[in-house]
Amino acid sequence: VKKPDPVIEPGATIGILGAGQLGRMLALAGARLGLKSHIYAPDAGEPAFDVAAGGTVAAYEDEAALVRFAEAVDVITYEFENIPAATAAFLAERRPVHPGPLALEKTQDRLIEKRFLNDLDVATAGFAAIDSAEAIAPALTSFSGAGILKTRRFGYDGKGQAMIRDAAKGEAAFASFGKVPAILERIVPFAREISAIGARGRDGSFRAYDICENSHANHILSRTEAPAAIKPATAQRAGEIAKCIADALDYVGVIAVEMFVVVGTKGEELIVNEIAPRVHNSGHWTIDGTATSQFEQHMRAISGWPLGSTERRGRIVMDNLIGDEALRWREILQEEGACLHLYGKSEIRDGRKMGHVTRVYMKETG
Ligand SMILES: Nc1ncnc2c1ncn2[C@@H]1O[C@H](COP(=O)(O)OP(=O)(O)O)[C@@H](O)[C@H]1O
Ligand SMILES: [Mg+2]
Repeated sequence: VKKPDPVIEPGATIGILGAGQLGRMLALAGARLGLKSHIYAPDAGEPAFDVAAGGTVAAYEDEAALVRFAEAVDVITYEFENIPAATAAFLAERRPVHPGPLALEKTQDRLIEKRFLNDLDVATAGFAAIDSAEAIAPALTSFSGAGILKTRRFGYDGKGQAMIRDAAKGEAAFASFGKVPAILERIVPFAREISAIGARGRDGSFRAYDICENSHANHILSRTEAPAAIKPATAQRAGEIAKCIADALDYVGVIAVEMFVVVGTKGEELIVNEIAPRVHNSGHWTIDGTATSQFEQHMRAISGWPLGSTERRGRIVMDNLIGDEALRWREILQEEGACLHLYGKSEIRDGRKMGHVTRVYMKETG
């Protein structure tokens, strides 16, 4: 029998696996509510360590370090979904881990994720499992000669992905990925990309943020705008899809669901691209744009606390500061009302997310 989750009160310590900017912003949000954070990650010098009360630098396979970490914290969460399943299971025997192992199992692998979604009657791009180079040509033919090859695991910011228009190129891409299991996806002719971000509490309560719209540059999220320019009924459906997924995973915490909006003869149709079992870059606007940021909401959810208001304060534009764009920090500081966030990364590199800036165009209030 599973032990009930402990009562978490201010002063408790939240264990966070991963030390990037998402972990950093989780720790900052927790600190405001009197929660301490203890960060666990393999590399020192990552941004979350700077703002947390405790830290462990160790491999995810280091059982002695994992035991000490579990003993030092009250509840455990993570800022990225590629935590080894064995690590999550090992920790879950010692402390509650939220979101639970089921969420990791269904979202770490694109093939498992798509089958899970289709079983829920949630539409995805058409896909074929690619376990060998020979599987590419027939799959490509069934998709009218074009598709996107993606590794099943460990992809992010477009890494481990290639647009394929002939089988030979596909086989070369498959080889360049190291012949690891992959999927081929049908290309979705989307009009927009949106995300639905919501949180599910330990009691099953669910609150969603307004649906936001994402633009990418070089496969990296560049801008998020809220609200998305979609019909109210489409926005409502997007929120319902996120809730349906969270319920099916018996999920606790913030979940983000990336979707494509396809405009067809039947109007706006939604196709789910991927699920992030964590806070998400496209939700950064909630820090300055709502009373309860996605980071605070996540800390509330995993602590068994009431979820907060997700009401949007106005029209919002969030721009990522990628690589050299972060050098504009002084100029942004001079801009009235621009909310600057820097992640404290020591070195600027091309394609590296260094910070973001949010602009809130407030609604008139009485
Ligand atoms: N099946 C698809 N059809 C059209 N565009 C796609 C498809 N899959 C991915 N893309 C584009 O590539 C981007 C990155 O793909 P995604 O699956 O979200 O991987 P990542 O893990 O890198 O975010 C998407 O945001 C979208 O712009
Ligand atoms: Mg994505």
